[in-house]
This record gives sequence, structure tokens and C-alpha cells, in this order.
Amino acid sequence: MAQTIEPRDRLIVALDIPGVADAEAMIARLGDSVSFYKIGYQLGYAGGLSLAAELARAGKKVFVDLKLHDIGNTVARGVESVAKLGATFLTVHAYPQTMKAAVDARAGSNLKILAVTVLTSYDDNDLKDTGSRFGVSELVAMRARQAQAIGIDGLVCSGEEAANLRGIVGTGMSLVTPGIRPAGNAAGDQKRVMTPARAIAAGADYLVVGRPVMEAADPKAAADAIVAEIKAARGAL
Ligand code: C5P
Repeated sequence: MAQTIEPRDRLIVALDIPGVADAEAMIARLGDSVSFYKIGYQLGYAGGLSLAAELARAGKKVFVDLKLHDIGNTVARGVESVAKLGATFLTVHAYPQTMKAAVDARAGSNLKILAVTVLTSYDDNDLKDTGSRFGVSELVAMRARQAQAIGIDGLVCSGEEAANLRGIVGTGMSLVTPGIRPAGNAAGDQKRVMTPARAIAAGADYLVVGRPVMEAADPKAAADAIVAEIKAARGAL
């Protein structure tokens, strides 16, 4: 199944931009080179959800990265609204009630639900501070299994987690990987980065890329280069 996805559709460009006008200018600049966009808190809460609907109407795919977590009924109503936007992916935190509500509510739509197992900014001590008795790797594995049992469509994970998670959940779930840096790009605030080729080799299905495209002198050329790297890496699998 994952095999039939075009290399271009595996690149998700993160529109980490404060306003819709600037986002639209970037989308116009990227043109046909990019088919999949991610809209997160910054743009989503600044008019970006209307932009998501517009992009979907224009034939682009949209990943709404709002990481929902609330009581089941509220999550379900939110998921229904995001499905109506025509979005392709929506993130939720990997709590069983939340995941179950989201999976049930997306039935009958084209929306796929991705779970965030443990935020990558958390280490074992941060988890302890939240009251968790598990460390990061244990909790990631436990939540990945729960997500799979509930019918979640995919997981957001670092390139380093991808190979391990592939071993846990098999091939049925999509792995969506941020923290991507083509060779020669600055890591910025990302602690663990991987090149597109390495992330694909580790088992990632989709790559989320922000600054290496948005801050490139030629964003379209940067996106084209990443798609070419994805294509070559998939060919080598
Ligand atoms: O600019 P950069 O390529 O680092 O952007 C990565 C995108 O992926 C950002 O939108 C960021 O919020 C998101 N992300 C991440 N790490 C996670 C989850 C999401 O970098 N664990």
C-alpha cells in the first residue's frame, strides 16, 4: 500500500509562518513541487484552517497538526470539523480515550488520524515530572501498541524512533517523521536530525520539513531536491 505513494506526496512542507498572506505567497512559489502542507498552531490559529480548506479544494493534501486532547466527545466533534475541511492528516495525543474518539469520528471521511506518542522535547525526567512511571522508550512503545490496537492510521516519530516503531507496529501504520535536514542544512533547535535518505531507509513514510524549504534561497529547488532524494532512497529499499 505505502509503496504506491508518489515520492512528491511523501514530502510534507510545514507552513510555520505567522500569517495566511505569507503562507499563500510561499505556496504559490512552491507551485507543483509540493503537494502536501502541514498547518500547525501558529498558522492554524491565525486563519490557517480556512487556508487548509482552500488548499484541499485546490487539490493539495493538508496535515492539520493541532495535537488534540480533551474528553472524548469534544475530540470527536473537533475531528468531524477537521474532516469537513478536507484535511488528510490530523494529530492527536496518544491517550487511549482521545485516540478512540478520534478514530470513531473520522469514519466515513478521508481524514487519517496520526498519534503523537511522546513529544520529542520530553526526556525521562520530564515524564517523571508528569507523574509517569515509564521512561520515554517504554512509553513510546506502549502508546504505539495502543494506537495500533485502536486503529490509529499513523504515528509521528523521529527518524531514530522510526526503525524501532516499524518493528513494533509492522507495515500497516504510516510513520510521519519531522527533524529532517538535507546534508548541509543547519539543525536549528532540532536535537536529533536525519537526512531525507536516512529517514526513508529507517522506515519513514512521510517526511515533515519546515526550515530547510521555507528558509532556502530557492524554496522550490530545495523541495525538488528533497523529493529527488526520497525517490532515490525509496528505489534503494
Ligand atoms: O523547521 P523544521 O523542519 O525543524 O520543522 C519541523 C516541523 O515539524 C515543525 O512544524 C515542528 O513543529 C514539527 N515537529 C517537530 N518535532 C516533533 C513533532 C513535530 O519538529 N516531534
